[in-house]
Amino acid sequence: MEIKRVGVLGCGLMGSGIAQVAASAGFETVVREVSDDLIKKGFAGIEKSLAKFAEKGTITDEQQREIRSRLSGTTSFEDLSDCDIIVEAIIENLEEKRKTYKQLDGLCKPETIFASNTSSISITEMMSTTSPARQLRFIGLHFFNPVPLMKLVEVVRTILTDETIYEQGVEFARRLGKVPVRAGDKSGFIVNRLLVPYLLDAIRALEEGVGSIQDIDTSMKLGLGYPMGPFTLGDFVGLDTTYYIAEIMFNEFREKRFAPPPLLKRMVMARLYGRKSGRGFYDYTKDPKNPTPMRLV
Ligand SMILES: NC(=O)c1ccc[n+]([C@@H]2O[C@H](COP(=O)([O-])OP(=O)(O)OC[C@H]3O[C@@H](n4cnc5c(N)ncnc54)[C@H](O)[C@@H]3O)[C@@H](O)[C@H]2O)c1
Repeated sequence: MEIKRVGVLGCGLMGSGIAQVAASAGFETVVREVSDDLIKKGFAGIEKSLAKFAEKGTITDEQQREIRSRLSGTTSFEDLSDCDIIVEAIIENLEEKRKTYKQLDGLCKPETIFASNTSSISITEMMSTTSPARQLRFIGLHFFNPVPLMKLVEVVRTILTDETIYEQGVEFARRLGKVPVRAGDKSGFIVNRLLVPYLLDAIRALEEGVGSIQDIDTSMKLGLGYPMGPFTLGDFVGLDTTYYIAEIMFNEFREKRFAPPPLLKRMVMARLYGRKSGRGFYDYTKDPKNPTPMRLV
């Protein structure tokens, strides 16, 4: 089966980026969100990003219009029923994801490939809510933020994934202009297995008074040549998402290095989610950004 029509679930940080690269690669792309307002918000982000590419001359104005015309938004699951592949990028919550897959399984054609962009949830755990036939067509496609710029996609297979479907997933990632790597269905796959303990350790170092937010960020940038420090990166990923990922990885491995530090939990409870909510470790409502004042003792 040739992939022609792509469905995307969720038009947040990741879903909007995935929809943008799919439409840019020539696929008819339909995105499902829970409300019209969230579709509007996600599409505004896509338009801003496309405008930047046009400004830089990476795409022409004509291409920008064509890409936009291949994208549509919906709040109904039925509009995804004839998609050849569905890439799911809804919140990192197993129950929400399982509920969604169960509903879609009954609606989609038998050939539709289900692909999750989860960062940490086991693909097998989501897949098991679908029919035995769909389980063979279930993979992980883990993109990186910001999707239009980041080249990597981890393509994940379960113990049941059909080999031909898996290779179609690898090829699909290539058609989106990405570099696919192969990963097994272990929580966090390759990148987050190594990244998450690092981000959490930076928060623990802050809690223990090892250094300030800015000094830890500067140290990792200038000392190791990282493009950004761990707090800037955490704010970029979303602290709510980082927290959910840490909880899931801790439950999977039961190792302290994956346990979310108390400060992270408190920041999420205080709705300091990072860039997307305006404040995280830094306050983005002010220019230039400064660390958010937080009393640590
Ligand atoms: N943020 C990152 O850097 C990053 C990187 C790679 C993978 N991921 C993964 O991508 C997924 C999404 O993360 P995000 O950062 O885009 O989160 P986000 O909070 O920005 O977006 C999630 C969106 O999903 C929507 N949603 C919730 N339930 C839905 C449903 N049933 N149908 C359709 N939409 C629904 C929400 O309204 C929200 O807009 C998560 O699984 C996350 O682990 C995130």
